[in-house]
Amino acid sequence: MSDTLLAAETTVRDIAAKLPGAAEIFRNSEISFCCGGDLSLKQAAEKAGLDLAALTSRLQDLIDRAGRSAPQETPDLIRHILDRYHAAHREELDFLIQLANRVETVHGDQEEAPLGLTETMIALRDELENHMNMEEQILFPAILNGAGAHLAEPIRIMNEDHADATALLHRIEHLTNGLSLPIGACGSWTALYTGLHKLCDDVVAHIALEETVLFPRAVAV
Ligand SMILES: [Fe+2]
Ligand SMILES: [Fe+2]
Repeated sequence: MSDTLLAAETTVRDIAAKLPGAAEIFRNSEISFCCGGDLSLKQAAEKAGLDLAALTSRLQDLIDRAGRSAPQETPDLIRHILDRYHAAHREELDFLIQLANRVETVHGDQEEAPLGLTETMIALRDELENHMNMEEQILFPAILNGAGAHLAEPIRIMNEDHADATALLHRIEHLTNGLSLPIGACGSWTALYTGLHKLCDDVVAHIALEETVLFPRAVAV
């Protein structure tokens, strides 16, 4: 993970998208990385009345930890990505789409209702499904076969997909007002945002693990 990610002028939107766990710190600090996402870390810290050095240090801890627990051997790392992220996304998305549809249908007249969330989540599911199938059927087998020199183009395409998925996460963040529940939210609404919280954090961690550990390792072979 690049240390320049925490340069004072990097936007909080970029940090939340690229650094696993940063979104959680921003949510708990009431820093919006959706509508206020164009603010630099320095500006966002000032706006939230936080000490920039302390905030940077918490984020730096995340960078230091990122990837440290990932398996060292490439076949084990790929198996970890498949079990921990690909399988988990598939397991969670259909259920969350049903929940989103229920919340939009039942509470659509409330001011805080996340109108358009179901459609956005269907787009995320389709994007991830197509992307994960390509990794599973083409890219990961090629990495395991040691095709390092020929992987630049497929990896470039995978990184483009990652950017598309990240844009959909921003949209979810926006539609749900940073996943903040209205007072008196029902059980379905609460379960939906709890599940989305985990899913969105998982997608960021999944992408970071591939872009900062697996892909650089694969092309270096
Ligand atoms: Fe993946
Ligand atoms: Fe990927």
